Amino acid sequence: MKRKVILTRRYQDEAIRQLKEAFDLIIVEDSGKTLPEILKENSDTEALISFLSDKIDKEIIDLAPNLKIIANYAVGYNNIDVPYAVKKGIPVTNTPEVLTKATADLTMALILAVCRRLVEGDELLRQGKFKGWAANFLLGKELDGSTLGIIGMGRIGQATALRAASFGLHIIYYDRTRKPELETKYGYEYKAFTEVVKEADIVSLHIPSYPEIRRLFNKDVLDLMKKDAVFINAARGDLVDEAYLAEKLERNELFGAGLDVYEHEPTVTERLLKLKNVVLAPHIGSATYKARMAMAQLTVDNVKQVFAGIPPQNLAPECRLP
Ligand code: DGY
Repeated sequence: MKRKVILTRRYQDEAIRQLKEAFDLIIVEDSGKTLPEILKENSDTEALISFLSDKIDKEIIDLAPNLKIIANYAVGYNNIDVPYAVKKGIPVTNTPEVLTKATADLTMALILAVCRRLVEGDELLRQGKFKGWAANFLLGKELDGSTLGIIGMGRIGQATALRAASFGLHIIYYDRTRKPELETKYGYEYKAFTEVVKEADIVSLHIPSYPEIRRLFNKDVLDLMKKDAVFINAARGDLVDEAYLAEKLERNELFGAGLDVYEHEPTVTERLLKLKNVVLAPHIGSATYKARMAMAQLTVDNVKQVFAGIPPQNLAPECRLP
C-alpha cells in the first residue's frame, strides 16, 4: 500500500507527478475541503507538505497521529509550531539555498525600484503625465557611495551584499553571529544592531521571524533611521510595525520603502497603497521558475528521505539533536 501524503496546494507539476507516482497523494486545494477536514478523514497521513500561508499549529499536528514529516515549501517556517512538532518527534524541513539567489535578486530589484522611483515613473507615464525629459524630473538616490545596512548576514543577506557591492554600495551588517571572514574578504563592516539602523542609507532585512522578535522594527527602531533612508523587507512582514512604517512614509520621514512581505499577509495596510514612495511586491522573493521547481523537488526529496529512514537533508535547525 502506498503511504499517504497531503499537499496543501498545487505546486510544480513535475513534483506532483513524482508524489503521485510514489504515494497516495491528496491535494487539499483540489478537494473542496479544509486541511482539518482532510486530516480528520485521513488519520493515516504520514507526510504533510505545507506552504508558508498554512498555519500548522498544535491542533493541525494533533489531527495527524501518524505524521512522520512536515515539509514546508519555503525557507522560512514561522507558520509551523516547530517546538510542538519536535515534542511529537515530527521533523520539519524547509527549502534553503535553492531560493537564495532569487530572493537576493528581488531585494536588489526593490532597492533599485525605490531608489530610482521606477514604479512612480511607470504610473505617471501610463497616466499620460510624461511631458518630456527634464533636469529635475523624478530624481532619485544613487547607489554608488551609499551604505547598505544588512540585518541578518545569512545566505540571503550575503547574496544581497555581493550584488549590492557591485553597485558601489558600502556594506555594514548586524547578525547574531559575527562573520569575520566576510569582513576580511569583502570589507563589510560589522556594527551593533542600532548602529546599522542609524547609519545605513538603505536598511534591508534578512532574518527569520520568531515570536520574540515580532515587530523588531517598531516605532523606536524605525525612528532611528535617517530621514532620507530606504527600508527594504523581503524577509517576513511581522518583523515590522507596518502601520507605523506607513505613517513615517506618509510624513516623508523616509525616502521610501520596498516591501515583499506584510504584517497581516495577504492584507496590506491600506495607507501604504496610496503612497508613491513605496514599492509593493506580492511576496515573490523566490518566485522564479528555477527556484520554485527546486523548492518543490526538495519537499519531495525530504519526504522520501524520511520514509527511507534517512535524516532529511533540510531538517530545520530547531529539529536537530543537540
Ligand atoms: C520563503 O521561502 O520563506 C519565502 O518567503 C518564499 O517566497
